[in-house]
Amino acid sequence: MPKPVRTAVFPVAGRGTRFLPATKAVPKEMLPVVDKPLIQYAVEEAIAAGAERLVFVTHSSKGAIQAHFEEHAELEEALADSGKQDILAAVQGVLPRQVSCDFVLQGDPLGLGHAVLCARDLVGDEPFFVHLPDDLILAKTGCLAQLRARYEQTGSSVIATEEVPREKTSSYGIAAVDADNAIEQIVEKPRPEDAPSNLGVVGRYLLTPAIFAELENTGRGSGGEIQLTDGIAALMAREKVYAMPFAGVRYDCGSKLGYLLANIDFALERDDLAGGLREHLGRL
Ligand code: UTP
Repeated sequence: MPKPVRTAVFPVAGRGTRFLPATKAVPKEMLPVVDKPLIQYAVEEAIAAGAERLVFVTHSSKGAIQAHFEEHAELEEALADSGKQDILAAVQGVLPRQVSCDFVLQGDPLGLGHAVLCARDLVGDEPFFVHLPDDLILAKTGCLAQLRARYEQTGSSVIATEEVPREKTSSYGIAAVDADNAIEQIVEKPRPEDAPSNLGVVGRYLLTPAIFAELENTGRGSGGEIQLTDGIAALMAREKVYAMPFAGVRYDCGSKLGYLLANIDFALERDDLAGGLREHLGRL
């Protein structure tokens, strides 16, 4: 039985430039889909997959993320006093008691690979999840739980993938796989004519701790950033890494259209909102 996965890493130190000016003072990861911030969906997915330790790789300008997970005694008291039990339960349910949170600063956002490396001491010598909160996935079984099930069969790193349009390969890490879905090649943001396939990496990874030694030696790659994809490519020389086409629908909430579609589809899943929203959409 491979080592259990107890820790989830959330890289949230990026600048969120595509969503400016909304993200000038509010972190991208705090943008709400319906009534919960993206980071809350991320944490719930990780806990559902068995994570007990949450590590946020953050930036000094993004204090709202830490505040979201801290206790707010005064607010809770006010809600209790005014008898708003449902809302109180939602506020208290932000972080279950048995789950711990750690925050580590990434001084400069030098890239996703660098952000993951910043979590090294907190993760230790164990396999761990990496979750990018701006990729929101609607699924019956959470995407991280799907990755964990695959990892339990092989003990190897596994990353979530989906087919992307050929002309969009330069927005993704792209993987070429064999018949068992073992990755044979992985490249960050290749031009369509250079892409080894149209299998795009999405923001969910389960990685063995061997990735850290590779990231130590990973130089700047695409866009001048230290890329997690390049670290994974180096790891493949030592260990198998699998791709996993996940079951579910992904919304790129780092893009405006993806964010809007997520709000509509997640609202349509809600009994209190679906009726009114359908009526409105029908009238359009
Ligand atoms: P993105 O590239 O989508 O986020 O990184 P960004 O850089 O914040 O956004 P744009 O492109 O400028 O609009 C995916 C995730 O990785 C984190 C981001 O916070 C986001 O959650 N990230 C990225 C880091 O934590 N550190 C980095 O150096 C880069």
